[in-house]
Amino acid sequence: MATAENGLLDTFGRRAVDLRVSLTDRCNLRCTYCMPEEGLQWLGKDTLLSDEEIVRLVRIAVNDLGVREVRFTGGEPLLRPGVVGIVAACAQLTPRPELSLTTNGIGLARTAAALSEAGLDRVNVSVDTLDPETFHTLTRRNRLDDVQAGLAAADAAGLRPVKLNAVLMRGVNDHEAADLLEWSLERGYELRFIEQMPLDAQHGWDRSSMITAEEILERLSARFTLTPEPDARRGAAPAERWLVDGGPAKVGVIASVTRPFCRACDRTRLTADGQVRNCLFATGETDLRGALRGGGSDAEIAELWRKAMWGKKAGAGVDAPAGIDAPTFHQPDRPMSAIGG
Ligand code: 5AD
Ligand code: SF4
Repeated sequence: MATAENGLLDTFGRRAVDLRVSLTDRCNLRCTYCMPEEGLQWLGKDTLLSDEEIVRLVRIAVNDLGVREVRFTGGEPLLRPGVVGIVAACAQLTPRPELSLTTNGIGLARTAAALSEAGLDRVNVSVDTLDPETFHTLTRRNRLDDVQAGLAAADAAGLRPVKLNAVLMRGVNDHEAADLLEWSLERGYELRFIEQMPLDAQHGWDRSSMITAEEILERLSARFTLTPEPDARRGAAPAERWLVDGGPAKVGVIASVTRPFCRACDRTRLTADGQVRNCLFATGETDLRGALRGGGSDAEIAELWRKAMWGKKAGAGVDAPAGIDAPTFHQPDRPMSAIGG
């Protein structure tokens, strides 16, 4: 059982209890803020962790390192054939971690019931637009119908509350903010907007084209009355929440760039090829796959993981807490799809 002494602590007094596991770097969409049209050089088969290796690392995280929440990400995690089995195995751990999954929604119509049965608690689905043409411009694929069918399946399977993530891009879908909220409210989905971060493989991010949290709130306020959620303690939760028209409906805004929440960060990340990243924006990684395949014991692997987290920087991979807006900020070599959200 992990105690204060043997959890995933860092030198700034933070403790990581939320593990994000990327199940694959591949994806069936090509969102412009994430990947180039032609896709990326995918991770080699030999370097990918097996389902058993993933489950072993999650078990070490839960049993020895105090992790209490596990989120499966990608790429697109539903492209991994063993996803349901991995969820089922993680649901058997004690103490049972909370289990969630971040997906583009396309595979949900097919998998939502099985995932729920396996023990998945919740899903986050990326929905940036409700317009098929804009969907194609944004993701370079015509799959909006599949996403909407996936959302309905998740809801029907009890993966509630279904949470939606939207990234707004200037001149592409930023006029849809209020429509997205209205649509989500009608269906009982919880919508959160995320400021676009410099994590695209093409390094095309530009501060001035990013829609800021302030602009998002402005666009929403044109149709809705927003009031800050009473005693919403932001804590480690990155979304700041507002009541819509007096509540109980809510909307969240994740201002990763303009209001970084690094000081309260409680996350640790594992890539599909078995590397620990102590931050989305970390420039270094710690190889657990080597230790795993070299016959390392649980205790040895746990110790490597602790060391990896102890070296976590103050904010966004840099020493200053200003994060992405710091002059020393450097975009990580791996794109978002290979790190996991
Ligand atoms: N900036 C902000 N959010 C992003 N996502 C993917 N790339 C970026 C980016 N550059 C979002 C996806 C998904 C979640 C995992 O992160 O839309 O909802
Ligand atoms: Fe796929 Fe998500 Fe990247 Fe879009 S943002 S291409 S859905 S991994």
